[in-house]
Amino acid sequence: MSRHLLGIRQLDREDIAELLQTAMEFKRRVLEADFVPQPLNRVVGLLFFEGSTRTRVSFEQAAHYLGYRVTNFAAQGSSMSKGETLKDTILTLRHERLDALVMRHRCSGAPTFAARYFGGPVVNAGDGQHEHPTQALGDALTILERKGRLEGLNVAIVGDVSHSRVARSNAWLLAKMGASVRLVGPKTLMPNNMSKLPGSVYYDLSAGIEDCDVVICLRLQRERMDEGLLSSVNEYRRQYQINRQTLRYAAPDCLVMHPGPINRGVEMDDPAADGDNSAITRQIENGIFVRMATLHWVFQSNAGQPAAGTVAPVKKAKEKVSTVQSKVKVAKKASAAASHAKTAKKKAK
Ligand code: MLT
Repeated sequence: MSRHLLGIRQLDREDIAELLQTAMEFKRRVLEADFVPQPLNRVVGLLFFEGSTRTRVSFEQAAHYLGYRVTNFAAQGSSMSKGETLKDTILTLRHERLDALVMRHRCSGAPTFAARYFGGPVVNAGDGQHEHPTQALGDALTILERKGRLEGLNVAIVGDVSHSRVARSNAWLLAKMGASVRLVGPKTLMPNNMSKLPGSVYYDLSAGIEDCDVVICLRLQRERMDEGLLSSVNEYRRQYQINRQTLRYAAPDCLVMHPGPINRGVEMDDPAADGDNSAITRQIENGIFVRMATLHWVFQSNAGQPAAGTVAPVKKAKEKVSTVQSKVKVAKKASAAASHAKTAKKKAK
């Protein structure tokens, strides 16, 4: 049976810890240039039925570092534009001998549907308003690196929660890992059935981000929004924008995050996006390493053994969650020591 990554909701703490720990190890290897990919002739299909920059490129980069080949599928110009069903497209790709699918679709549940017919691992790269699991993993890795832990942190997810798969995956992941989650935004942009999501709801920004360690700001997802949910963008900006003034309510060292793409000047202003507390560019970079970990993870189970070329980054599948936090410190030290040694070597020359 294939292993898929379709959502964070189905994962347990140990799975999440394992994925994060593997991502850290891959990051260390890539940054220290001691990673030698050994091509396995594995082909990963990237099926993006919706626009993407970060997610698509980082999956390509992840596959590249792991020595896999990728093949890109564009719905436009494919048989789907001639009326082929999603099921037939998935069956076709299966018989084209692709080994895994990474799929983004505007319909919630489309990757789960694909997993039924594909016969190999399927990774959800964002489906409708449902989940975006690898984004949440990259965000968690970024928080771990900057804060050293997830447990016990106060994390506010601010903005258009209702239409956001990022909000859902982050809420599940952070709650499972022991953070306290707050969902902050206008009533019209909160999901109808809040009891299905972990976290407490705030309609007031200052109360919602008060003393928070991390603020994850969301984009206003107009493409998924019905008319009339927002009175005006100006009013939204006045009440919910993350900027220097509003950040005064959060903890002084509050980490500022955004999954991108950012509507600069709407949900966040330039100083907040580009300031010292911003981790936005780090989120992008970490996207590569968690996607490496994800591809490794789905293939690992599929083959019944660790994928070659990945140098068995995880010693035991179910290592304790708490060790992930200490691994961050060790990985940071190792990486600092390596760059120190490189500088010393250069100087010596
Ligand atoms: C997504 O695809 O969900 C993005 O990463 C976030 C967004 O579109 O706002």
